[in-house]
Amino acid sequence: MGGRDATMVLLDENGIRCDGRKVDEPRRIMIRAGGLKNADGSAYIEFGDNKILVGVFGPRDVHPKHMSDTDTGILRVRYHMEPFSVGERKNPAPSRREIEISKVIKEALEPAVMLDKFPRTAVDVFIEVLQADGGTRCAALTAASVALADAGIPMRDMVAAIAAGKVADTVILDVNNEEDQAGQADMPIGYMPSLKKITLLQLDGVLTPEEYKKCVDVGVKGCELVYELQKKALHDKYFGKGDD
Ligand code: CDP
Repeated sequence: MGGRDATMVLLDENGIRCDGRKVDEPRRIMIRAGGLKNADGSAYIEFGDNKILVGVFGPRDVHPKHMSDTDTGILRVRYHMEPFSVGERKNPAPSRREIEISKVIKEALEPAVMLDKFPRTAVDVFIEVLQADGGTRCAALTAASVALADAGIPMRDMVAAIAAGKVADTVILDVNNEEDQAGQADMPIGYMPSLKKITLLQLDGVLTPEEYKKCVDVGVKGCELVYELQKKALHDKYFGKGDD
């Protein structure tokens, strides 16, 4: 947060945001299941101007072996941004931010994946951010869930994710890059809609208790919308497009 561009109008007098959306309107979301023939499962997502590809491998042997667990499988997640994914070239080496986001996504997926069915093995999730525009962790988590399902990994539910936030003292759904930089709060939420359980909740910024509750409500409703698109992506791949 921090008002990078003080002249930017984040919310106009008609309640319209800097990219033309209403306060409760998500960006355009397109999810495709599959696409990578060398992966066990994959997915591609466009979430506004975010473009992210996910490949899933496993369950497979763990190397080095001492990292395996005799009681359960392990989940490994690597979130990586391409150097060209942002305006200013990003160093391809893993940054602290990418290490943190990898951990956050792993912990958000773990409650959904039935790792206990595959002791001694690992499931690897590789996330490549091709283009970033705010909210990549939510878009990546959403696509990773679809890629895991596409790989046939047994799951309790899929995790759908979107951010709620605050600009101009107003709670909004799906925070874009400008709103993230110049707004007052950004709250990424990951949610398993069938189980009604939150697996990711972060908050950057300051909210009143009422705003906090409203952000969670708005975010959970947003996740329910995202969930429908995740299911549709899998349905389109396995049962054909438009075949409801
Ligand atoms: O992407 P997400 O909102 O989950 O994480 P963030 O750390 O809040 O980053 C917000 C946005 O900042 C990213 O989505 C990118 O658009 C941008 N960013 C950037 O321009 N350069 C970087 N090295 C890292 C992030």
